[in-house]
Amino acid sequence: MERLQKAISESGYTSRRKAEELIRNGKVLVNGKLITEMGYQVSGNDTITVEGTTINREEKEYILLYKPRGVVTTTSDEKKRKTVLDLIDTKKRIYPVGRLDYDTTGVLLLTNDGELTNLLIHPSNDVEKVYVAKVEGILSKDDIIKLSKGVIVDGKKTAKAVVKVEKVDKKNNVSYIKLIIHEGRNHQVKKMFESLGYTVIKLKRENFAFLNLNGLKSGEYRYLSTHEVKMLYSLAKKKKA
Ligand code: URA
Repeated sequence: MERLQKAISESGYTSRRKAEELIRNGKVLVNGKLITEMGYQVSGNDTITVEGTTINREEKEYILLYKPRGVVTTTSDEKKRKTVLDLIDTKKRIYPVGRLDYDTTGVLLLTNDGELTNLLIHPSNDVEKVYVAKVEGILSKDDIIKLSKGVIVDGKKTAKAVVKVEKVDKKNNVSYIKLIIHEGRNHQVKKMFESLGYTVIKLKRENFAFLNLNGLKSGEYRYLSTHEVKMLYSLAKKKKA
């Protein structure tokens, strides 16, 4: 059993606070009956209708995938390319939390928990992401400082980042740079390097919050523990507060 407002927000329909408003305003039915009582308890078998729409009450699933290169981060692709969902054996309607490019590898979270997704991708919710980029060229000290202070991407300065040079391969003229960022703009890491004239050859996300790739090979996935889910919730809520 769980509280009606929680069941609504978990479905991804809206936030918990807005769900409470909807209940109060008489917009929610449980098994066809109008419920305005806050904290009304529902089970997985109850049908919840919000503003005329029946919400998804699937049991929640949380998956950490080591995304390989050459798969798209969507639930279906019009060009019929392989998607991250093709790598996962599930009947649940899970979807990726955020996006990694077709050629980017690394940590990708998938879930059908709309509440957690909304909390994690909310712009105010600066979840830490760690990337390692293989970059053409050798970065100057100046450029490293620029990256860490923020560069202009799509007309807007990026937030401060932690930048570490992991390895420099002078012979092949490439560098491996670790970048710790909190934003999640479109193609952000590649564009950050591009803004200084460098091309990213390979990109890997090593961490999403405290989640890493330990124990997984490329293309493999595992389920999050209850504890990890709780930690994600508390981290996301703390940041949002
Ligand atoms: N930044 C990028 O440029 N690409 C990704 O896939 C993730 C972050």
